[in-house]
Amino acid sequence: MTPTDLPPVRTASPRLHFAPRNNWMNDPNGLVFHDGLYHLYFQYNPQGVEHANLSWGHATSTDLVRWTEHDPAILWDDDAQIFSGSVVVDHGNTSGFGTAEAPPLVALYTAAAPGHQSQALAYSTDGGYVWTKYDGNPVLDRGTSDFRDPKVFRYDDGGDGYWVMVAVEAEDRQVLFHRSDDLKTWTYLSSYGPAGPVGGVWECPDMFPLAVDGDETDVRWVLLISLNPGGIAGGSGTHYVVGDFDGTTFRASVPHAAPTRELLRAGSQTRDELERYGWIDFGPDCYAGVTFDGLSRSERTLIAWMDNWKYAGRIPTHDSDERRSAMTLPRRLSLTRDAEGVERLRQHPAIGFEVEESIDLLSMAGGVALAERVAGAARIRFTATFGDAQSIELHIESASEEGRVVIRQDRTSGRVELERLGEGMPSGFRGSPSMTLDRRDEIGWDLWVDDLNERVSSVELFAQNGERVLTALIPVASPRTYTVTAVGGSLDGVRADIAERGC
Ligand code: FRU
Repeated sequence: MTPTDLPPVRTASPRLHFAPRNNWMNDPNGLVFHDGLYHLYFQYNPQGVEHANLSWGHATSTDLVRWTEHDPAILWDDDAQIFSGSVVVDHGNTSGFGTAEAPPLVALYTAAAPGHQSQALAYSTDGGYVWTKYDGNPVLDRGTSDFRDPKVFRYDDGGDGYWVMVAVEAEDRQVLFHRSDDLKTWTYLSSYGPAGPVGGVWECPDMFPLAVDGDETDVRWVLLISLNPGGIAGGSGTHYVVGDFDGTTFRASVPHAAPTRELLRAGSQTRDELERYGWIDFGPDCYAGVTFDGLSRSERTLIAWMDNWKYAGRIPTHDSDERRSAMTLPRRLSLTRDAEGVERLRQHPAIGFEVEESIDLLSMAGGVALAERVAGAARIRFTATFGDAQSIELHIESASEEGRVVIRQDRTSGRVELERLGEGMPSGFRGSPSMTLDRRDEIGWDLWVDDLNERVSSVELFAQNGERVLTALIPVASPRTYTVTAVGGSLDGVRADIAERGC
């Protein structure tokens, strides 16, 4: 089967995000760019909208916007479910499953049986469509129950290089590093953790190098660790640590203290404590994010699951499309240093959206309708300075007035919060996720909104040039109206660029 044989997956919604045609989806798996195509595999139940029968679904795209869904790539069987993992292109045919001229694609995934998780291998010699489970599985087994989510990459040691696997002992809050020459035999290198956020199990790690502010002589390594619960917005969330990897050991630039035994047992950390760590997203709905293999260092791109284990199984589906969950926008990652010299991750959407309308105002008091009755996806880039206003509010309302969300930035505290009311949504959904900006006088939002179904949409808010991001599902249906209000004075230099993608 080739990609052109299959119909495009895009239905009426979402317009900018990947969602399968039907059924349950969670983590992105095996993100790989190969021969001009982005492959997205994902945790998928081929038989229903519940988290069960875990297999790898599969979709491809040339532009990260329009996706073609294919037959599931790796199916669960009587022995194990196919949990999360990664794919590499084995260019040197080190595994022997292909040839040097036609390198195989190799997947490392977790074979999950009750009480036992080990790492297993599957390979594809047709470019990622048909997969064969290796008959020597498992390839890495510690005899434990929560060892999972292998992310594999090629490490360049200045010589021939070797494969490195990053995986977690989830309950121990540890990331384990192993190495291999052929993807089939793995030897232990080192471990990281427990450290930093430990309020839940650690899952779906990733690790990669990035140049600081584009300076190729100043390269740092970024370790991503998802944890559930214990995230900064409650429930699941993903934090990052910047440091150095010498081919054996990862060392954080600013080491996080090891938790006490009591903390590990009790699990709860205060917001103040969590604020000290790096988070890829301050919203509740960005989890298990991992990056593509096969792109250059400056093109490092992440996709995450746009949901939260707190309520993912209870988000309303709609009769016309029986499915659960979507992925976040693909996000290009870079590193920068803040005024204190601390390395910070930056994210920018990796897809384009043409500006259709620009609103320019010297100053603005009270309310302005930015866009009315937008049916479909919208991107609003809003910039201003505070003038004498105390705060700014953006209201996103369903035209039917059933749903409303307010995003507010406060001048004094630098806090941006999203008030999520959640009528008709499951328990655990209500709340006001927030993030605090360093630059308090400026307002610089890049806001992306899309429908997931007839009741649920998503917001991704990139602020402070992508250094702070907040992603949330919202109970606001399309068509929507966007209104912005300056509270307690007026804003200066107001500009909004608006783009819509309608039905
Ligand atoms: C993270 C996770 C992974 C696991 C997968 C199972 O969301 O719990 O640790 O491999 O989902 O679907």
